[in-house]
Amino acid sequence: MSDRPTVIAIFGVTGDLARRKLIPSLYSNFIKGRTPERLRIVGVGRREWTDATLIDHAHQSLRNHAAAIYAERAWDRFRPMLSYSKVNLPQPETYRTLKGDLDALDNGCSNRLYYLSIAPEFYQDVICNLGALGMARENGGAANPSWRRIVIEKPFGYNMETAQSLNQVVHSVFKESQVYRIDHYLGKETAQNILFMRFANTIFEPVWNRSHISNVQVTVAETVDVGTRAGYYDRSGVMRDMVQNHLLQLLSLIAMEPPSAFDADALRNEKVKVLQAARAVRLENTVRGQYDGYRRADGVAPDSITPTFSALKLFIDNWRWKDIPFYLRSGKAMRQKTTQVNIQFKRPPNSIFELTETGDHSRNMLSICIQPDEGIHLTIEAKIPDRQIAKSVDMELHYDNAFKAEDLPDAYERLILDAINGDAALFIRGDEIESAWKIVDPIIEGWASDPSAPPMQRYAKGSWGPAAADELLEREEHIWRLSCLHQG
Ligand code: BG6
Repeated sequence: MSDRPTVIAIFGVTGDLARRKLIPSLYSNFIKGRTPERLRIVGVGRREWTDATLIDHAHQSLRNHAAAIYAERAWDRFRPMLSYSKVNLPQPETYRTLKGDLDALDNGCSNRLYYLSIAPEFYQDVICNLGALGMARENGGAANPSWRRIVIEKPFGYNMETAQSLNQVVHSVFKESQVYRIDHYLGKETAQNILFMRFANTIFEPVWNRSHISNVQVTVAETVDVGTRAGYYDRSGVMRDMVQNHLLQLLSLIAMEPPSAFDADALRNEKVKVLQAARAVRLENTVRGQYDGYRRADGVAPDSITPTFSALKLFIDNWRWKDIPFYLRSGKAMRQKTTQVNIQFKRPPNSIFELTETGDHSRNMLSICIQPDEGIHLTIEAKIPDRQIAKSVDMELHYDNAFKAEDLPDAYERLILDAINGDAALFIRGDEIESAWKIVDPIIEGWASDPSAPPMQRYAKGSWGPAAADELLEREEHIWRLSCLHQG
């Protein structure tokens, strides 16, 4: 690791993400000895804060969101790293102060990570203003160059067109290799484990294709409703908020070809190929839903047609997956919080045993339990002792048993560290973002303007979504299956 100081400038430090995730993640990496030795964290915001206000804020954030790892002595070493710089994001002249503040820390020779944890409408201003003052320029000799990187939170664009123009703005200032677009799902241990499971083992690859797999299901269900986020959510809806990013990322990890190496280029080349091979989704293969009471939430338009639930059937037109349905569903206000991928295998070609379960319930299924109760389950048919009948049983791996000693780090902990270390493997490349928008844009547009689009369905809070989502699978004689659930 270079001995230059590293400065992390968090734009939007007064916001929710910084308080709940970024400050605790930096602190956790710090106490694990993973941060660079000479680290400075500069909070950037519009408020009239001082260094002392930021330090208080960070202290509170750790007490509330990192209580289990908070320790006075570590805090005493952490807090001198913190300072505050006031910037009015759209105003170019205020960046001179920021530049002055950052240069004062290191004579301008540090490594710098700019973290944009701000409303997306300010991304362009910040990027252009950093560019105008040469703050994206990397320098130093070839032997020990200093780097400049930028982390950009989701949403990256509102649709394909805005994502493309944001990419252009970004690339007018930063090279792609300096850009780290976040999808926090890729920082989740169990999402990363999809790659390990597939490519550190030999037993799955031979069956990981259309000859053996009947269908793949990705469920991302949340129990929370729109809460206090209506201002943002009512403009976005589930397709932009969850499907364009988190669900399509999970899908690409499941469906990608084996990369030749575990590095950013090799990995992302394969992921983007999956997205590019997705067949245009027909509207009849989509379901949209809104939970009862959504329109009464504070900040939601009384006639809002924003979906809080969606289910899709999608196909990937390549040799591995041709004509195998990938079902994706996600919703708010659902019965249980669970993110899981269920890979359903085909039935034995000739059944010689009596089964206690029938239909899809008797299929072998590999379940990747992303959260909570992280793990992997394999459903197999087994002989019931003393009877000539088979019953479906689960072989289960639970992280809290298998890795007792290890804490599961927060996704942000991994991602911030990777950005500091220059490993972009778990970040989204510009072409990937655009390919994902290309899949969801026509659905969102079709729902808004095509009279033949399936109508909005209502669903009860605390359910698994509208019945139409079940019917979508029934057409192919499939059913949504769930494993990984807390019983009761
Ligand atoms: C965010 C969405 O990206 O992911 C939220 O904006 C959603 O609406 C959240 O609640 C879910 O993340 P997690 O990690 O709780 O599954």
